Amino acid sequence: MDISAENRNLKLTLNFVFSVFISTLMFSCGPTSGISHNEETEQIIDDVQWCGNAVMDSKNYDWAIKELNLDGDGNHGQKLFKQNCTVCHVLSDQKLTGPGLAAVYWRLPEPKVEWLKKYILNSDSVYKSGNPYAKKLHSEYSETPMTVFQRQLSDKEINDIIIYVVGNTK
Ligand code: HEC
Repeated sequence: MDISAENRNLKLTLNFVFSVFISTLMFSCGPTSGISHNEETEQIIDDVQWCGNAVMDSKNYDWAIKELNLDGDGNHGQKLFKQNCTVCHVLSDQKLTGPGLAAVYWRLPEPKVEWLKKYILNSDSVYKSGNPYAKKLHSEYSETPMTVFQRQLSDKEINDIIIYVVGNTK
């Protein structure tokens, strides 16, 4: 065998090894990673599906914590909001049973955080106290009143929800 034939054989062998390597790579990246991509996609779809409430930016939570001077976990707030509030509210300006919560923080009466806490705990008692903003809301949305969360959500949970809502609607 002369040198050029030997070179050719070497090239062929290398090509073969290389293509086996590539096919192995392609195979292992195919079906297996496909499954985890699907799960990831489902998770994203699940997040997006509940009416566009899927914004999760920790920078927004940091901003809300500072702005409101309130400690809370926005990610936990998101879960609680999904469980307790999405039947009646979205974070856009779309009305469901309750008002859309876009930019809600900016229209609340002072002191905003206190008002919000009281209102989420028991909107009816804020209304009955004669608070003009609660009265206005009540007259616009008179058909179904907001659920009373007094015995269902702890103070910490209310804070988490507030950080989530305000952080994502500023
Ligand atoms: C059964 C439906 C319902 C549920 C569940 C509900 N809300 Fe409400 N929410 C309302 C309605 C209706 C209003 C308007 C005022 C009224 O009539 O009570 C309102 C008003 C509000 C407002 C004032 C909005 C504005 O424009 O100023 C905030 C904030 C709010 N809700 C937050 C929440 C949060 C947070 C939760 C979950 C912990 C929640 N709501 C759960 C129905 C609901």
